[in-house]
Amino acid sequence: MVIQSPPTALITGASSGLGYEFAKLFAKDHYDLVLVARNEARLREIAEEMKQTYGTGRVTVVARDLSKPEAPDEIYQEVKRQGIEVNVLVNDAGFGEHGLFSENDLATELAIIQVNISALVHLTKLYLRDMLARDEGKILQLASTVSLMPSPLMAVYGASKAFVLSFTEAVINEIKDSNVTMTALMPGATDTNFFRRAGAENTVAAQDTPLSEPADVARDGYEALMKGESRLVSGILNKIQAAASNVLPDGVVASGMRKLMEEKGEKSEQ
Ligand SMILES: NC(=O)c1ccc[n+]([C@@H]2O[C@H](COP(=O)([O-])OP(=O)(O)OC[C@H]3O[C@@H](n4cnc5c(N)ncnc54)[C@H](OP(=O)(O)O)[C@@H]3O)[C@@H](O)[C@H]2O)c1
Repeated sequence: MVIQSPPTALITGASSGLGYEFAKLFAKDHYDLVLVARNEARLREIAEEMKQTYGTGRVTVVARDLSKPEAPDEIYQEVKRQGIEVNVLVNDAGFGEHGLFSENDLATELAIIQVNISALVHLTKLYLRDMLARDEGKILQLASTVSLMPSPLMAVYGASKAFVLSFTEAVINEIKDSNVTMTALMPGATDTNFFRRAGAENTVAAQDTPLSEPADVARDGYEALMKGESRLVSGILNKIQAAASNVLPDGVVASGMRKLMEEKGEKSEQ
C-alpha cells in the first residue's frame, strides 16, 4: 500500500489577518503548512493551534522579513532542505502606508514595493517553476479592489496591488495549457491589522465603511483558488465598486478613493 503524504500549503503573512484565516482553512482540509512572516513567536503559537485544533501533521515555521531581497530565496532553500514539496503557494504578506506620497518615508515605501511586489514575484518564480515541472500546483496572489483604483494617500500601496493583478493575469495566460492555476484575490477593506499598520485606522474607509470579516474573505479566496478561478472580488459591495471603477475615468475613481482615505472629519481637497 502506498501511503501518500498530505499536500503542503506555504502561506506568507500567516501571523495575522487573512493569512491566519488561510492557515485555518488549509489545516481543516488536512494540508501540511509552511508558515512565513516576521513574528516567529506568533507563528509558533499558530503552528501549535493548528496541530491541537485540526490535527495538522507537519507545520513548519520559517520566520523571515520579506522586505529583505534575499528572504524569498532563503525561504525556498530552507523548505527544500527540509524535504518539503509545496503544492499551494499563498502570497498573502503585504502592507501599506497612509499619507501623501511627497511626505511619506521613502524607505517605508520601497519596503512596500519589496514585500508586495518583489517578494511575491520572486516566490512565484521559484515555486511556479517547480509546479510546472510537476504539472501540478496552485498559487493565490493577494491583490485588492484597489488593484483597479488609483489610491491617493496610499499611492504606492495601490500601485503595488495594480501590479499584482496585472502580473497574475499575464502569467495565468502563459500557464493556461498546464494543470497549474493562479488566482488573484481582491478583497475590499477588511477588518485585520492592515489599517493600523498603515497608520490609516482613522480614515473614512476604516471608520465609516462596512469592513469585511477576514474569515469570509479568506473563505471566498480559498474557494476561488480551489476552483482555479483567475480572479475573485470578495463581497457584493466590493463587486459593485470594482465594476464601477472599470467604467469610470481614473480621475473620478481617484477622487472617490481620496475621500475614503482622508482622516475622518478632514475636508477633502479633490
Ligand atoms: N485588510 C484589508 O483591507 C485588505 C484589503 C485588500 C487586500 N489586502 C491584502 O491582504 C494581505 C494580508 O493583509 P491583512 O489584511 O491580513 O493585514 P495584516 O493583518 O496586517 O497581515 C499582514 C501580514 O503580512 C505580514 N508581513 C507584513 N510585512 C512583512 C514583512 N516585511 N515580511 C514578512 N511578512 C510581512 C505580517 O506578518 P509580520 O508582521 O509578522 O511580519 C502579517 O502576517 C496583504 O497583502 C494586504 O495588502 C488587505
